[in-house]
Amino acid sequence: MNAPTMQAAVLTRYGSPDFIKIQDVQKPVPKANEVLVKVHATTVTAADTMMRRADPAIARLFLGFSRPRHNIMGTGFAGKVAAVGPGVKEFEKGDEVFGETGVGFSANAEYVIVAEDGVIDWMPPNISFEEAATLTDGPLTSFNFLKNLGKIKAGHSVLIIGASGSLGTAAVQLARYFGAHVTGVSSARNVELVKSLGADEVIDYTKVDFTQTGKKYDLIFDTVGKSSFSKSKKALTEHGLYLSPVLRFGLLLQMMWTSIFSSKKAKFDATGLRPPKLLRSYLDELAKLVETGKLGIVIDKKYPLAEADEAHRYVDTGRKRGNVVLLAAS
Ligand SMILES: NC(=O)c1ccc[n+]([C@@H]2O[C@H](COP(=O)([O-])OP(=O)(O)OC[C@H]3O[C@@H](n4cnc5c(N)ncnc54)[C@H](OP(=O)(O)O)[C@@H]3O)[C@@H](O)[C@H]2O)c1
Repeated sequence: MNAPTMQAAVLTRYGSPDFIKIQDVQKPVPKANEVLVKVHATTVTAADTMMRRADPAIARLFLGFSRPRHNIMGTGFAGKVAAVGPGVKEFEKGDEVFGETGVGFSANAEYVIVAEDGVIDWMPPNISFEEAATLTDGPLTSFNFLKNLGKIKAGHSVLIIGASGSLGTAAVQLARYFGAHVTGVSSARNVELVKSLGADEVIDYTKVDFTQTGKKYDLIFDTVGKSSFSKSKKALTEHGLYLSPVLRFGLLLQMMWTSIFSSKKAKFDATGLRPPKLLRSYLDELAKLVETGKLGIVIDKKYPLAEADEAHRYVDTGRKRGNVVLLAAS
């Protein structure tokens, strides 16, 4: 008898979205302590497009040198538990769950396997699969950067650059939730969106350079890596922090240098490499914020799984607002 199959967005080689093919692959079977999730929604993120291009090249160390080691794309997912492997105690068939697979990828498919002690959590009751699938991108990353790295406090003055992206739309709301005074940086077309998320002020980067306004911030969170620590330094308070999730060699050097020699510090982190237990505790907090209406999810576009390549082309434009989601056929 033939093994059951499923549809998946497979990356056949590094490069353009043209190398993403929808293929029938073997449906995975959960082993001990693994959960099989029937995917209802999964994400295409800016980080996924970097993985697709193997950018930066050093990423090939963990992605695979000549071809992706895990060739089914995607990390964020939401769906229903379809089966559990031996020894699974926390989850059972039918549970509505969301999470991320990290460097295991494989989420842009009809089914995905997740370790029971991996980044997987129960969905908040009043949220759609589409919304839940995005929680591990912008919301989780911005929560880690603002709370864990930034030690954000009520009364802090916070600047969010890229306030209309996946990280930015979450960061504006989270910073407001933590009691900060929030200034978002976006282009004119997104000013209303950023204000609607709770920003106290919005700077249109096509007209105003935030480093030239004379205002100072306790935290500058450059979610899209369009500025630099050197340029932003003069807009930081004496013990201000510059945070960016976009990996650059220069940023790593500044992070080491400023950790010893400067009161103003630069910080980077790879959220997905934090221990799953910690990430799950953040997701628990985020789920509560969603449940109580304190955190909303911005979804820009939805595509069927079969159009994963189109979704990548759109995310590649660098203009998406919030999140892009793929819907697996139910
Ligand atoms: N280190 C980590 O843990 C981690 C985790 C997840 C993601 N990331 C990284 O985080 C980065 C951001 O991801 P994302 O999904 O939030 O980005 P994104 O959604 O792709 O960002 C697009 C948004 O950025 C805005 N934008 C473009 N240029 C801008 C500028 N110069 N100033 C202000 N806004 C600008 C665009 O608005 P306009 O059209 O109005 O310009 C658009 O709405 C990616 O590089 C991703 O790889 C890192």
